[in-house]
Amino acid sequence: QFIPVILAGGKGERFWPLSRFDQPKQFLCLDGSGKSLLQSTVARLPDWAGEVWVVTRLGLVPLVQAHCPHLPPERILGEPEPRDTAVAVAWVTQQLLQQYGDEVIVGIFPADHWIPDAVQFQQTLAQAVAVATQNQGIVTLGITPTHPATGYGYIQQGAAVSGGAYRVVRFTEKPDLAQAVQLLAAGDYSWNSGMFFFPAGLMWRELAQYAPAITAPLAQQGVAAYAHLPKISIDYAVMEHTQRALVLPVTFAWDDLGDWRSLERLAKNPLPAQQVDWGSSGVTVYSTDPQELVATLGLDNVLIIRDGKVTLVAAPERTQEIKKLLTQLREQG
Ligand code: GDD
Ligand code: MG
Repeated sequence: QFIPVILAGGKGERFWPLSRFDQPKQFLCLDGSGKSLLQSTVARLPDWAGEVWVVTRLGLVPLVQAHCPHLPPERILGEPEPRDTAVAVAWVTQQLLQQYGDEVIVGIFPADHWIPDAVQFQQTLAQAVAVATQNQGIVTLGITPTHPATGYGYIQQGAAVSGGAYRVVRFTEKPDLAQAVQLLAAGDYSWNSGMFFFPAGLMWRELAQYAPAITAPLAQQGVAAYAHLPKISIDYAVMEHTQRALVLPVTFAWDDLGDWRSLERLAKNPLPAQQVDWGSSGVTVYSTDPQELVATLGLDNVLIIRDGKVTLVAAPERTQEIKKLLTQLREQG
């Protein structure tokens, strides 16, 4: 049995001003499909998958219901506060263990991915589920890296196991640029896609071993423990330490819609504005109002985003720093 879980509780701050606290990026249509990222994530799942679960922030549960009307409320877990992905995975794993037992294979799916070829994706999922079952491991999908990105986990591939997968020698979450350059040059690393496949019982035991500060309070108090749980991602809490990690190299086209710049890579503008330009280069404009006219003159390398009364004008290579801009904004009230 295979139960897919969608993590949809992130803040998506790097898509500000479109992404707001009460409408983060998983609810936006950014992949040009007319569906929100959350809806695309659900739609991509294979028919043979079991019941879909979603973990999100409590305040976002009504939005999840609006976007996915077929999901029964008992399968939408609302977290009282965001505690990052290790805690979200721990809580849902605890629920799934009770409901489906130790051996059920859980698939964790972030809600911010662009994967255009659903057929190839679904074949890979079947393979990942088989590998997790046969080898009793935590299976990651390894993406061939193209540049020294610092926003991803890096997976070093070891000896082959059955099913086309390999042992993970080392998992390095979000290296700095110098380290990313080294890992890329080493040649035996892939990027972590952010999807994970594992038997529920195994993940709970690994969490209990490497993150007892999460599992012990959860076991005792359930969701009431949330406020006291450490804020940490599954990558740092478990993947960097576990001996049970496996990697399945994958070939489907994949991108993490992490910030405005990732939309440029898709070469598709989901938010077209009317544009006129004279003498500029490298200008990208997005607007929520397709009637809006944005005129540019003699600019070089500028990103312009318009949403109602808010305009962001930014250096495209610095969109990772939007979080800092937002901190400044909050301080100014
Ligand atoms: N429920 C819930 N609660 N969901 C959360 C929370 C939380 O506290 N925090 C984040 N999420 C959701 C996000 O909405 C997203 O769908 C997913 O979990 C992953 O979180 P990100 O914050 O986007 O992670 P990342 O992109 O920085 O890094 C992860 O993904 C990369 C690939 O996209 C890591 O697994 C990296 O190793 C990986 O390379
Ligand atoms: Mg992400």
